Amino acid sequence: TVVRFVSHDGKTHAVPVEEGQSLMQVATNNAVPGIDGDCGGEAACGTCHVIVDPQWSECVGPPGADEEEMLAMNPEREPTSRLSCQMVVSDVWDGLSVRLPEFQM
Ligand code: FES
Repeated sequence: TVVRFVSHDGKTHAVPVEEGQSLMQVATNNAVPGIDGDCGGEAACGTCHVIVDPQWSECVGPPGADEEEMLAMNPEREPTSRLSCQMVVSDVWDGLSVRLPEFQM
């Protein structure tokens, strides 16, 4: 399973992922620029914000309540925004593409 992270300047990082991992963990393990994960995955810092490709949003699902609260404070929030620490990789995500917001560059 491979997930693509597209940075604001258009660079793509394709990263192999395994079911059950947090997408934030995968990104930081692979040094994807723009994903910091400062709070360690508690949905409390917002530095793991990604914007899910709209084609994938149904498959990935909506944010949870804590996550939604954090996202609501983010000026770069978009309709398909998620906190990647709250996204648990599924095998059906093969080919998933997420964008990184500008401020996280
Ligand atoms: Fe802090 Fe996701 S790592 S909100």
